[in-house]
Amino acid sequence: MVSFRERFARMLSPKIEAVGLEVGTSALKVVELRAGNPPTLSALAVRPMPAGLVSEDEVTDQQGLAEEIKALFQEAGIQKRFTVTAVSNRQAITRNIHVPRMSVAELDEAIRWEAERYIPFPIDEVVLDYFVLDNPEDVAEGEQLEVVIAAARLDEVSQQVDYLKHAGLEPHVIDVKPFSLLRALRGSLHGEHLTKATLSGQNFTEGNEIGVVLEIAASTSTVTLVRGQRVLMNRNINVSSDDFTTAIQRAFGLDFDSAEEVKLEYGTATIPTEDEEDLLNFDAKREQFSPSRVYDALRPVLVELTTEIRRSLEFFRVQSGDATISRMLVTGGGAKLRGLPDAIGDALGIKVELGDPWLAVTFDEGRFDSQYLKKIAPEFAVPLGLALRGVAGVD
Ligand SMILES: Nc1ncnc2c1ncn2[C@@H]1O[C@H](COP(=O)(O)OP(=O)(O)O)[C@@H](O)[C@H]1O
Ligand SMILES: [Mg+2]
Repeated sequence: MVSFRERFARMLSPKIEAVGLEVGTSALKVVELRAGNPPTLSALAVRPMPAGLVSEDEVTDQQGLAEEIKALFQEAGIQKRFTVTAVSNRQAITRNIHVPRMSVAELDEAIRWEAERYIPFPIDEVVLDYFVLDNPEDVAEGEQLEVVIAAARLDEVSQQVDYLKHAGLEPHVIDVKPFSLLRALRGSLHGEHLTKATLSGQNFTEGNEIGVVLEIAASTSTVTLVRGQRVLMNRNINVSSDDFTTAIQRAFGLDFDSAEEVKLEYGTATIPTEDEEDLLNFDAKREQFSPSRVYDALRPVLVELTTEIRRSLEFFRVQSGDATISRMLVTGGGAKLRGLPDAIGDALGIKVELGDPWLAVTFDEGRFDSQYLKKIAPEFAVPLGLALRGVAGVD
């Protein structure tokens, strides 16, 4: 077992600026920032993932993937070689655990012991990292320390190091996506643009409020609960954006790519109004994929998704006694399905909005089109969060 930090970060100078790179299942994304308070956006690019390079989060063509990453960096005009990447959600797990109060030096050993009970992968096949939430000095004798542990499969980590090296890059930090998301959405959870003052506060939510971040990516979804400065819980959910596509595929007898097009063009998560129907019903294609037909196809997936989220929230309530969840931010490309935030909000009875990662940085409006940034905000939360890690502590 090797710690992420031991392997990568500690060996290197923390003063290095690294870029955030996400190898998603549907797209590759890169973000470069310049250190500062807040950091400044300096470059970004996205490329769709070509078929045949990855399957079920496994890299099947390492050389091909390395070429795509090179092309992505070229497109963005990025020269930097150090990268912060993340392991895929299915290959990683985070858990909050409690251990007796002890010195930081003793923790390493104790955490390894404890982690074995919580991690569903064989312990000698994982890379383990942890973060102590309580300051041992603030915790009384006999009380417990809360620790977040993150574990990723060693296979996946080494595979990632290999293709990064193939692409001519230097892995600086390998993170987990939920933590990256929170970094990117800190401003959004606060409900304001980050300034020097709010950055140093590092709170996700105010007071006792619990915030939820939901990411719906192509092949995974995660739900993360936070309060103040703490991650309270993180769970993977078995319904993702690809499931919406598959539902359309089945309902209309299409191949995956055509179904994906129909989803982007006609997909909706809320019952279409008569107006919407009338507006769209003027040609044969639009009649075939009328909003209500597409909605009928998507509805079961939506129900499954909200059921899974509700289950995660209830699991947390049972564990923690009571919990008032004040708001939810939804992110990931899947969050762009028309009406999705409202549909989830109505089903769960909480306020749901799209998260805005760009609140965590500044950017030159002459160089970056703010309409475009707004459009790609959901799928850029993870890579932006990785890039934030890449400049943390640099300035
Ligand atoms: N306008 C949209 N409506 C519905 N789904 C969308 C829209 N735009 C993107 N998506 C979906 O978002 C997913 C990609 O999200 P992303 O966060 O980039 O995933 P990954 O990081 O796994 O590659 C795809 O399933 C795609 O269909
Ligand atoms: Mg992603």
